[in-house]
Amino acid sequence: MPANGNLERMREAVQHCEGCDLYQFATQAVFGEGPADARIVLIGEQPGDQEDRAGRPFVGPAGEVLDRALREAGIPRAEVYVTNAVKHFAFEERGKRRIHRTPRLSEVTACRPWMEAELAEISPEFVVCLGATAAKAVFGAAFRLTEQRGRFLQSRFSEKTLATYHPSAVLRGETAEAKDELYQMLLEDLRSVAKESEKEPRGARKAWRAGAGGTGSLFS
Ligand code: URA
Repeated sequence: MPANGNLERMREAVQHCEGCDLYQFATQAVFGEGPADARIVLIGEQPGDQEDRAGRPFVGPAGEVLDRALREAGIPRAEVYVTNAVKHFAFEERGKRRIHRTPRLSEVTACRPWMEAELAEISPEFVVCLGATAAKAVFGAAFRLTEQRGRFLQSRFSEKTLATYHPSAVLRGETAEAKDELYQMLLEDLRSVAKESEKEPRGARKAWRAGAGGTGSLFS
């Protein structure tokens, strides 16, 4: 971890991370991407197979669901910072296929300094945890997504931290109805983030903290 590293230095340094064993099997570390002054940070679990190959977060099937939900919620993806709790792909091999496996607590813990450094650098107004792994990485192991989903909660990273379903949960829904229900909950939660951010113009909070006042429009 580079001392006082900006996001670009962290992005380079994470490629040399040996904080847990995952680096031995993954193609590369997948660091977060998006503007360094993003108002909203989205945190997923870990890169999937396609992300591992591309070196970018949420570019596979879960990314398609996320993109659709962001679009429908009126949140431009280009304006949010998207990252993961774990930066290397954790998988099991079945024949030639690499099957996602949930990262172990030890892996999430080993990777947490990267997420903390990203959030410290960006200092977002809103943090959205996509799924239980991200929510536990942010709020601690006792967090229960089913009980606390969709509420703005205080975390050490933002006064407005919200946990919602992971886009992959939508894809795993057993029936079309179940998929749709999960998608609607994800969308509802992203819409509440969009709505809440409209209440407070961009930069108002950071400027207020700095004692400078502030103006600006929603996402620009
Ligand atoms: N799932 C995640 O949690 N993150 C990604 O980047 C892709 C799939």
